[in-house]
Amino acid sequence: MIGMGLKDGLLSESLAHDRRVAEAKRLVLEAMAEHQSRLVGVKPADERLKASYEQAIQKFNRLRGGALYYPYLGSGFGKGALVELADGSVKYDFITGIGVHCWGHGHPEMVAAALEAALSGTIMQGNLQQDVRSAALVQTLVEAAQEGGSRLEHCVLTTSGAMANENALKILMQKRWPASRVLAFEGCFAGRTLALSQITDKPGYRVGLPTTVAVDYVPFFDAQRPGESTQRALAALRRHVERYPGAHAAMCFELVQGEGGYHVGDRAFFVALMEELRTRRVPIMIDEVQTFGRTTRLFAFQHFGLGPYVDVVTIGKLSQVCATLFTDEMTPQPGLISQTFTGGTAGIQAARVIVEGLLRRGYFGPQGKIAQLHGHFAGRLQAIGERHPGVLSGPFGLGAMVAFTPFDGTPETAKRVAQALFEAGVIGFTAGAHPARVRFLIPVGAVTTEDIDAVCAIVEKTLVEMKGQGGPSGWC
Ligand SMILES: Cc1ncc(COP(=O)(O)O)c(C=O)c1O
Repeated sequence: MIGMGLKDGLLSESLAHDRRVAEAKRLVLEAMAEHQSRLVGVKPADERLKASYEQAIQKFNRLRGGALYYPYLGSGFGKGALVELADGSVKYDFITGIGVHCWGHGHPEMVAAALEAALSGTIMQGNLQQDVRSAALVQTLVEAAQEGGSRLEHCVLTTSGAMANENALKILMQKRWPASRVLAFEGCFAGRTLALSQITDKPGYRVGLPTTVAVDYVPFFDAQRPGESTQRALAALRRHVERYPGAHAAMCFELVQGEGGYHVGDRAFFVALMEELRTRRVPIMIDEVQTFGRTTRLFAFQHFGLGPYVDVVTIGKLSQVCATLFTDEMTPQPGLISQTFTGGTAGIQAARVIVEGLLRRGYFGPQGKIAQLHGHFAGRLQAIGERHPGVLSGPFGLGAMVAFTPFDGTPETAKRVAQALFEAGVIGFTAGAHPARVRFLIPVGAVTTEDIDAVCAIVEKTLVEMKGQGGPSGWC
C-alpha cells in the first residue's frame, strides 16, 4: 500500500490487484502504444479538418472572452515530445503546458497513474477528505526537501502555483504580523492573484487592480557583473529594510527567473542576500513553481546549496499538484490554510511517479540526464548562432529551462519567432522583455536527443527563412 505503512487486506487493495483490472490496464497500454506507433514526426494540418478547426478556435476564443496565444487545440493524443492537434497536425511540444507535461504526451507511466487514480473512487482530493495518495506524496516531498540541510518539515498541497504562493504569503504574514511589506526581485513572476499581481514585476498584469501588498524590489543577479550586481542588490535590500524597519514579512526568491527571461542566479549572490535577511530577521521564501525538478537537484535551492536558509518553498507545474513547504517555526494557526480541492486524484498519483522517477533514475547531478539534455540542446542552439550570425544569441537558462534571444530581442520579434516556430511544428513560448527570449520547457521524462536535433533543425530553418525576409526591419 502506497508507502504509508498501512496494512494490506483493504478492499482498495483487492480491487487494485484484481486480475481483470491488471488485464484492462495492459490492454489500454497496448492499444495506446499501437496507435502511438503511427505518430512519427511533425506533420501539417489535414486539409479536410482545417476549416472546422479554424471555426472551433474562433468559437473557443469567443466563449473564453479572448484569443488564445496559439491556435492550439490538442486532440488529446501524443507520444513523448510529439503532440497531435485537433486539425490533424503534429508538433514538437517543447513548452509542455508551460512546464507541466514533463513526461511528455501519452507516457505509459502517466496513463497507468491515471488508470490507477480512476480506481480511487473520486476524481478530486480535498483538505477535508484526502486519500493515502496525498499523504504519501506529502511524505515524499518533505523527505526529498530535507536533503541538503533544509529545515522544511511540513507540506500542504494545493491546486495552482498561485495558490501555493498565496498560502506561503499568508503563512509568512501571519508569522510576522503586523509586517505587511514584501521584498522581491525586479523582473520576477509570482502569479496573478490580487496579491501576487503586486509582486509579479509586470505593470501590465496589474492594470485596474487595487494595491493589495506593498512590494520593494531588489535588482537580480547580473552574470556579466557578478560582484557589482551583488553589491547593488545588497545596497537596495538595506535601503528598503532601513526605510521600513520591521515591516517586511518576507523576501521572495526566484532562483532562476522564468517568465522574467531565464536569468540564472548565483550561490554567492543569494547567500549574501540571505545572510543579510537573516541578520535582519526577514524570512526567506523560495518560489520554485517553475524550477522544481528542472535543475541538477529536485529543488533548485538544493542545486544552489541554500537548504539551511529556506523558511518556505513553493512548487508547481512539473509536480502536477502544487505545494507549499515550510519549517516548523512557520506553522500557521488553524484555519489559515485550507481549500476544497487540493488537486485531482490522477495528478496526485502522477506527481509521486514523477518525483520518484526523477529521484531514482539518474536525472540529477552534474552529469545527470537533465544536465546532459541541457548540454545537447544548448550546444545545438549555439551552433545555429555560429552558423548564422545575428539570428540568435545565447543559449540561456539552466537544466530543463532553455532559451535564446532571437534577432534584436524585442518582445515583438520574440513573439513573431515563437509564432513562426509554432507554424513550423515546434511549440515554445516567450519570456522576458529586455531582451525578450524564446524559451523551452522540455519534457525531461520523454524527450530524446533525436527530438532535440529535429527541433533544432526546425529552429534553424525558421530563423534562416526569417533572416532571408530581412529580419525584424524587413517584417514591418
Ligand atoms: C515562478 C512562478 N511562480 C508562480 C507561478 C504561478 O503558477 P500558476 O500559473 O500555476 O498559478 C508561475 C507560473 O508561471 C511561475 O513561473
